[in-house]
Amino acid sequence: TILILDFGSQYTQLIARRVRELNVYSEIHPWDKCPEITSNIKGVILSGSPFSVRDEKAPKIDLSKIKGKVPLLGVCFGAQYMAHNFGGEVAASDTREYGRANIVSHDHESSLLAGIAEQSQVWMSHADSIKTLPSDFDVIASTADVKNAAYAVQGEKTYGIQFHPEVYHSTDGGTMIYNFVVGIAECKQDWTPDAFVESTVDALKEQLGDDRVILGLSGGVDSSVAATLLHHAIGSNLHCIFVNNGLLRKNEYTEVLESYKGMGLNVKGVDASEKFYSALKGLTDPEEKRKAIGKVFVDVFDEESKLVENAKWLGQGTIYPDVIESVSVTGGPSQTIKSHHNVGGLPDYMKLKVVEPLKSLFKDEVRRVGKSLGISPAILGRHPFPGPGLGIRILGEVTPETVAILQEVDAVFIGELKAAGLYDEVWQAGAIFLPVNTVGVMGDERTYENAVALRAVTSTDGMTADWCHLPYEVLGKISNKIINQVKGINRVTYDISSKPPATIEWE
Ligand code: XMP
Repeated sequence: TILILDFGSQYTQLIARRVRELNVYSEIHPWDKCPEITSNIKGVILSGSPFSVRDEKAPKIDLSKIKGKVPLLGVCFGAQYMAHNFGGEVAASDTREYGRANIVSHDHESSLLAGIAEQSQVWMSHADSIKTLPSDFDVIASTADVKNAAYAVQGEKTYGIQFHPEVYHSTDGGTMIYNFVVGIAECKQDWTPDAFVESTVDALKEQLGDDRVILGLSGGVDSSVAATLLHHAIGSNLHCIFVNNGLLRKNEYTEVLESYKGMGLNVKGVDASEKFYSALKGLTDPEEKRKAIGKVFVDVFDEESKLVENAKWLGQGTIYPDVIESVSVTGGPSQTIKSHHNVGGLPDYMKLKVVEPLKSLFKDEVRRVGKSLGISPAILGRHPFPGPGLGIRILGEVTPETVAILQEVDAVFIGELKAAGLYDEVWQAGAIFLPVNTVGVMGDERTYENAVALRAVTSTDGMTADWCHLPYEVLGKISNKIINQVKGINRVTYDISSKPPATIEWE
């Protein structure tokens, strides 16, 4: 394991991913909750931070059990922290050092820099510079503006890098991380999807024995992969429930249910559409709609789980970004991860113990594990789809009729994206039903019908997103097809807002 101590940098997760791309397991921990340094930890990386080391409130960590004992790499703040605390000088930079820079000289003998190109491009993002290094630190790389761009500590496997090797724009950053992780820390590159499947299935067998597990499938990647792993471990003791909330895509309920059955999963489909529609009747406020959908789901799931006798566990498709504790940069307590439940009022299934086989994986790793499990590309490549489904893509009141219209529109849109070979380039796409009527003309007749909006975005994690620059020809074809084929729609618009300030969903 490579231990990454997080000081609050926006790039910390990227460091973890770069390490894992080398098939080496890495874990992120907040700097003030450093785990015990056991022999499993082959190396430690200190992340960047929004703080300056000169700031009174800056994180302060005791490195006595780490530095000189385990291979150690400080990145940006991490590099400055060591320089500052072991006798060097860190001060505000004379020039702003953000963005592109090039290494003008580097130590070709340094194990950290083996194989990097002359003039290699690196990505800077800092307001402070290391003016002087402690006497036992040697500079190993410089850029035109930053003399101490990387250093090595004499007689130790301790290094510091002022720039960000983890970002894509540092062209040899991956090589430096490889040099640290595989060369210096001597990690074995054996954390592969196959190895993950094998060890996770063994661990689940051990943990669950003959116990029964209930799991709610959504049709999405995470719950499908989680279910398949559990199925490999405990077979038919896994009881999956797939609820049709009446707000799924066209034909999705039957198609996905069939494909789950084809995968050998013990899955029960529950068509509760009517319950959802009646709860949604008359509601127009987005939050009220979300709450109503959530409540019916809990009721339905609770009722179904009671039918599974002797269930002891609830399986969930939680992934790593959901559980990483965030480091507070404001000095306040870190973000609340769990809200409080009234124990007496908890639904029955919430009283089960929770098993989360994917909670150490990033999304792309979940996909790779799914591939190693033989799950079909059609499921693994699916766009994300919100739990409340079309309910939050129909603005205003949701009725079975508006759902049926939106399902048709969405099917045309997604079908054409696939036909144009664009589906995999888009991170998420869907259609929105607008509760406005507009005037149109079809043949010689005036129409007065609803408008829809199309939304397609690029993103990596849904936190930020940009609208997709879909080709006009494709948009034109989609618009024509929707207006010609879907009764009740006479106008199609395309959403060109980014997130922020807009969000991906309209409600
Ligand atoms: P927003 O609209 O917040 O969406 O930009 C970001 C991502 O989250 C999805 N989303 C949800 N997923 N339950 C979910 O499971 C929800 O209530 C929900 N709301 C939004 C959205 O589809 C996008 O991928």
